[in-house]
Amino acid sequence: MNTILTGDRPTGKLHLGHYVGSLKKRVEMQADPENQLYIMVADMQALTDNAKTPEKVSANILEVALDYLAVGLDPSKTTMFIQSQIPQLSELTMYYLNLVSVARVRRNPTVKAEIEQKKFGEGVPSGFFIYPVSQAADITAFKANLVPVGEDQKPMLEQTQEIVHSFNSTYSEVLVEPKAVLPPKGMGRLAGIDGNGKMSKSLNNGIYLADPADVLQKKVMSMYTDPNHIHVEDPGQVEGNMVFTYLDVFGTEKEKITELKEHYTRGGLGDVKIKRYLIDVLEAEFAPIRERREAFAKDPGEVMNLLKLGSEKAEQVAAQTLAEVKNVMGINYFA
Ligand code: TRP
Repeated sequence: MNTILTGDRPTGKLHLGHYVGSLKKRVEMQADPENQLYIMVADMQALTDNAKTPEKVSANILEVALDYLAVGLDPSKTTMFIQSQIPQLSELTMYYLNLVSVARVRRNPTVKAEIEQKKFGEGVPSGFFIYPVSQAADITAFKANLVPVGEDQKPMLEQTQEIVHSFNSTYSEVLVEPKAVLPPKGMGRLAGIDGNGKMSKSLNNGIYLADPADVLQKKVMSMYTDPNHIHVEDPGQVEGNMVFTYLDVFGTEKEKITELKEHYTRGGLGDVKIKRYLIDVLEAEFAPIRERREAFAKDPGEVMNLLKLGSEKAEQVAAQTLAEVKNVMGINYFA
């Protein structure tokens, strides 16, 4: 039996990078009755650097939930919930913070990189600074043993493991040590349509699960290929060519793709042809997802209700862990 927890910050709709790096794996894990999945919309974490614009976070909760349902995460099997609606997560964070030094948080490479990237300097919000500790609360509240995340989240898992050790050896063995489940090689980070290393909202180079067919087509048609491949008969480059990068990730006809690559390298194969093929490949995978998304989007009240039910279920589990935590700390005064 595995207990699996993961989550996403609701700062935008989810894109194909999220799909190959994580969502697909979650749906596979969900299919195994040995696995109990918890999927969290991490709105509190998103607020740590969006405190002045909370509407940016709240407006995306429904969008992320629609993306979950669209890819096939099923509320009858998987508990989907909203982080801020589980007060026990904040309580656990307070107790864990006392087990972690400021120096240790400062060493977290992901937080360090984000502080630089967001140009916070000394003005970094303290809530943002300590979010790895809050993430440890998310994971341990459900006694998750597996946490599927991207490579960039490895330091969060290390931090969580340290907190679990420290807590269990200081008080008593209550918390479960989690392991990261990383995406398969080559699936960790899908490049943007412009060839930039990462798909991101700020670079406006992503294809979203919610994109209608005509938008997806337009994005593929504008993909970065080989700038020196001007005439159809010119030899073209496959390396760094986004159409082939995407075909490698999403294509199923491996032999056909190998032939296309050879033809393109020799010359005589035009960009429009390979782009049309990629559109077919993507449509085969994402048209059903888009249709499911549109169907769920017709009843946002029902989607929010699913999150409410999930949050109630999640709260019960977190409350049980919090009670155990307070017991072994000797602070469950009225129990
Ligand atoms: N930090 C994760 C992200 O940015 C989101 C997240 C919050 C998370 N809490 C978590 C992931 C707990 C896994 C487990 O995507």
